[in-house]
Amino acid sequence: MGYKARFRVWRGDDADGDLHDYTVEVNEGEVVLDVIHRLQATQAPDLAVRWNCKAGKCGSCSAEINGRPRLLCMTRMSTFTEAEIVTVTPMRTFPVIRDLVTDVSYNYQKAREVPAFRPPEDLAPGEYRMQQIDVQRSQEFRKCIECFLCQNTCHVVRDHEDNKTNFSGPRFLMRIAELDMHPLDTHDNRAQEAKEDHGLGFCNITKCCTEVCPEHIKITDNALIPLKERVADRSYDPLMRLFRK
Ligand code: SF4
Ligand code: F3S
Ligand code: FES
Repeated sequence: MGYKARFRVWRGDDADGDLHDYTVEVNEGEVVLDVIHRLQATQAPDLAVRWNCKAGKCGSCSAEINGRPRLLCMTRMSTFTEAEIVTVTPMRTFPVIRDLVTDVSYNYQKAREVPAFRPPEDLAPGEYRMQQIDVQRSQEFRKCIECFLCQNTCHVVRDHEDNKTNFSGPRFLMRIAELDMHPLDTHDNRAQEAKEDHGLGFCNITKCCTEVCPEHIKITDNALIPLKERVADRSYDPLMRLFRK
């Protein structure tokens, strides 16, 4: 059975904007993105929203719903009561381009700063051999759809704009952890670089990134904490220190 829902949607750009109220039809089985599309079709044709797959796989429709970072296409309207006002706002950590669309180029910049996978030079394609356990370990991280909800949520940059220069965020620290665990990667010192160049030390393992990940990747437990442990091992292990000297 359909009903009329009350929506409050943020309209504006980085300089100015406010929340607009709408009453909009909702049908059984719909997600928040369906309702936003109905709003565009019936009342707000100029409402800007980014989306692509409507299947939780492209990572485009990230926003905040009632203050919680979520994918618009994976949030069912049945999550809310019919009387509830559903408030939809853009991701707070990134500059707003218009309405629900944010400029996520901070993330692309951080992606570029992570040195690429470097396989051994004498290994031809097709000769790569890995243990199944190593494949499985990195497969979890490869599920990332680059929605940047974790980047949006982490308080290190959400509450401190000036940390953006020195902190790459959970998604890219996870990428470094993945490469550092890769048995065929020959790039030295990834863990040390995570600390010195990507701000690993800013992370105080609050796990908010893990909580919002739509792919349920255990970012903190399986990537960030092991990376921190490897930094500590290499920095404080007396044998390693002697070896380095
Ligand atoms: Fe999104 Fe999860 Fe990837 Fe972060 S790790 S960008 S939350 S899919
Ligand atoms: Fe931020 Fe996640 Fe660490 S939310 S503080 S990167 S555990
Ligand atoms: Fe692709 Fe939502 S539209 S993840």
